[in-house]
Amino acid sequence: MCGITGYIGSKEAVPILMSGLKKLEYRGYDSAGIAVLKDNKIKIVKCKGKVAKLENLLEKGAPKGNIGLGHTRWATHGRPNNINAHPHNGCNSEVVVVHNGIIENYTSLRERLISEGHNFVSETDTEVFPHLIESNYQDDLTLAVKKSIKEIEGSYAIGVISTRDPGKVVASRCGSPLIIGIGEGEMFLASDIPALLSYTNRVIFLEEREIATITKDGVEIIDSEGKILQKEVINIDWDEEMTEKSGYKHFMLKEIFQETMVIRNNLEDRINLSTKTLELNDLFLPLDKIKEIERISILACGSSYYTALAGKYIFEELTGIPVEVDYSSEFRYRKILLGKKDLTILISQSGETADTIAALRACREAGSYILALTNVRGSTISREADSVMYIKAGPEIGVATTKAFVGQLMCLYILSLYFAQVRETLDSSEINKIISELIKIPQMVEIILLKDPEIIKLSEEFHKYHNFLYLGRGINYPIALEGALKLKEISYIHAEGYPAGEMKHGPIALLDKTFPVVVIVPRDKVYAKVINNIKEVKARDTLVLAIATEGDKEIINIVDKVFYIPKTSDILYPILSVIPLQLFAYHIADRLGCDVDKPRNLAKSVTVE
Ligand code: AGP
Repeated sequence: MCGITGYIGSKEAVPILMSGLKKLEYRGYDSAGIAVLKDNKIKIVKCKGKVAKLENLLEKGAPKGNIGLGHTRWATHGRPNNINAHPHNGCNSEVVVVHNGIIENYTSLRERLISEGHNFVSETDTEVFPHLIESNYQDDLTLAVKKSIKEIEGSYAIGVISTRDPGKVVASRCGSPLIIGIGEGEMFLASDIPALLSYTNRVIFLEEREIATITKDGVEIIDSEGKILQKEVINIDWDEEMTEKSGYKHFMLKEIFQETMVIRNNLEDRINLSTKTLELNDLFLPLDKIKEIERISILACGSSYYTALAGKYIFEELTGIPVEVDYSSEFRYRKILLGKKDLTILISQSGETADTIAALRACREAGSYILALTNVRGSTISREADSVMYIKAGPEIGVATTKAFVGQLMCLYILSLYFAQVRETLDSSEINKIISELIKIPQMVEIILLKDPEIIKLSEEFHKYHNFLYLGRGINYPIALEGALKLKEISYIHAEGYPAGEMKHGPIALLDKTFPVVVIVPRDKVYAKVINNIKEVKARDTLVLAIATEGDKEIINIVDKVFYIPKTSDILYPILSVIPLQLFAYHIADRLGCDVDKPRNLAKSVTVE
């Protein structure tokens, strides 16, 4: 997925476009470009490479003008190079477009447009847009865009400017996010909120197939049939400072160190600390619905899927409701067997993951009640779900999720306890006991974060290995998966997460002294079983790092290295055990000189299939 910015007002457009692109670079960073309209000409400057490279290019002479578009790309069709970089223009540079998404039918459209005399220069699907708009243009840019998007199959978020209609920016979306920022005598366009916060926190979220005509004085939004819509202006309660690094070397490190705050945000807003009962005022889920649920499905992608797996253990343990978990990308193509007594929970930090949006729409068709756990207000998933529980993590910029992962876990604990309270599957003393343990978690996280120097030392000892196996049992198995994903996605070291009990059914064949094992082995009900697994691993001369419970003296005689986490109840260990694994991955990647916040080939939110 890519990052789009747009500006129309009385200031020079380029500094504003570039400031936004820097805030959106986590969405894609293999090439970047800007286009500026002035005196009936559009100037385009674009190049392969990150936004910083474009910035260097512009230092030699940025085009002047008060209307413009910017783009930072994550390549889907066409290699990252200068020609395939956005913006793209049509035959005569009268129409220029930036695009995020995938045009499924671009080949047939391209062939038709070429037969009509249009010349294409790039390998991208996007280049179809400016030529199509040119071919549909009569005397109004908005109408030309409205006609053109009807011919498009696939996903798009587009910004369009034209010398033939110079006083406006036209924007539209289908399947990819697009937000309009409202200023005083100026207007902004962006793929995500962080790009706008330097200028405004008043925004309008465009919805599917809506078309916005943006002038410096305001915006008119129509639906695909041309009906003018009255849209809600949302005030975003994030500020710009929250999207800065605040002295940390990387956003990822800053966001790990914000996890205490994220946990506290969720506790303070949802638990009555004096009565130790749950009060979910921000959750519009009817009590009778909670009582009638017979099955829960949790759908997600990537790390969010791992929180979903942990959610299965949590819900089944606390509420007795059977839970099924699936990857959104798998679920959406399976036979959907959901009905009125089902609750579907969709977990998505960005609220814009294409597969999870598609899964949501499939569940709605099947009649399941849909609850979203997301971090971004106004995101597609938050708007299309029946009810939303925000994970209260604040803007997460690092591509590798950390604080949002912890926020999602907190929501799953609180939601499960709330369901147990409503369905009376736990009595008040049991709920009280778990809440008392939850309330201690923030200071336990502080203790872990203070031991970061120990992790730095461990990263020094482990950073030269090329393969890792992460093991965990029960509710810690999803954390083993997450620990492996964190390492591989930012350090490019191969790492696999596996259930500790399954290791003997294959992966043990991989193990020798070149293949370290990281094992999550808290003092819980399966401790003895995991110790047996560790002994099997040690018999293969393998280096073992254990994440173990403070005070466990036995483990140190069995493994090579131990990182201790505070003692808590079995069900809560995932919140504590994931943090050293996040730091371990971070420090190894940093030591290897990897681009931790913008790992190669990845993007913060996968808004394409
Ligand atoms: C996690 O570090 C990855 N960046 C990725 O797996 C991510 O969790 C996944 O793409 C899902 O994103 P979402 O939560 O925004 O839907």
